[in-house]
Amino acid sequence: MQGKMESRKKEIKNLNIMIRPYKKEDFRSIKELAFSSFKGKKDAIWSVEDLLTAKKTFVADLNGEIVGVLELDYIILENEKHAQIGYIFTNPDFWGQGIGRKMVEYVEKYLRNEKIKSIWAVVEKNNERSKRLFINHGYKEVSIKDLEKELKRKDIKRILTALDYNLGDILLRKILD
Ligand SMILES: CC(C)(COP(=O)(O)OP(=O)(O)OC[C@H]1O[C@@H](n2cnc3c(N)ncnc32)[C@H](O)[C@@H]1OP(=O)(O)O)[C@@H](O)C(=O)NCCC(=O)NCCS
Repeated sequence: MQGKMESRKKEIKNLNIMIRPYKKEDFRSIKELAFSSFKGKKDAIWSVEDLLTAKKTFVADLNGEIVGVLELDYIILENEKHAQIGYIFTNPDFWGQGIGRKMVEYVEKYLRNEKIKSIWAVVEKNNERSKRLFINHGYKEVSIKDLEKELKRKDIKRILTALDYNLGDILLRKILD
């Protein structure tokens, strides 16, 4: 088992991960990936459903195999366009090897070109990997109290609804300047 893991790890160093937009033909492989990544949680279903509605989806392609998915949406506030990272998931065989990082960096570049003000994300309190992924990339935790100081009620509602925020979740934001 250990040997198998090791060889997968070596493999990824030598192969190129390409981040590219999602194509319809990817649907089946993404469905499988979601099930193994979310390990049977209901997010395995919702993340695949959201492929149909997300404004933009990117996949991490490892020599033709889809090993990561990131779904993006926009949040329109008064006079400002923001973005949200919805679902992000990668192949558990490769967790901790930088695929998540590559996708987050890629979309940040993409959104800077689109003149987006901020990128938002929500993570469950106990999802350490996901939390670290965002924190290590300059995302800051924001409390509802913080939001009340800077935004109108209507905009806060828009953000929390778009992000499907539940009490106890961690709200994260990266301001792009
Ligand atoms: C969250 C997830 C997308 C991260 O993908 P990944 O391919 O492992 O991403 P990376 O290899 O770039 O690692 C991300 C961070 O995880 C952290 N990490 C790595 N190994 C870890 C471990 N064993 N335990 C805890 N955190 C770990 C690291 O801090 C790393 O950030 P860094 O490389 O900048 O230090 C992936 O774990 C996943 O698909 N999880 C299941 C689905 C999910 O919960 N998605 C998030 C909610 S939608």
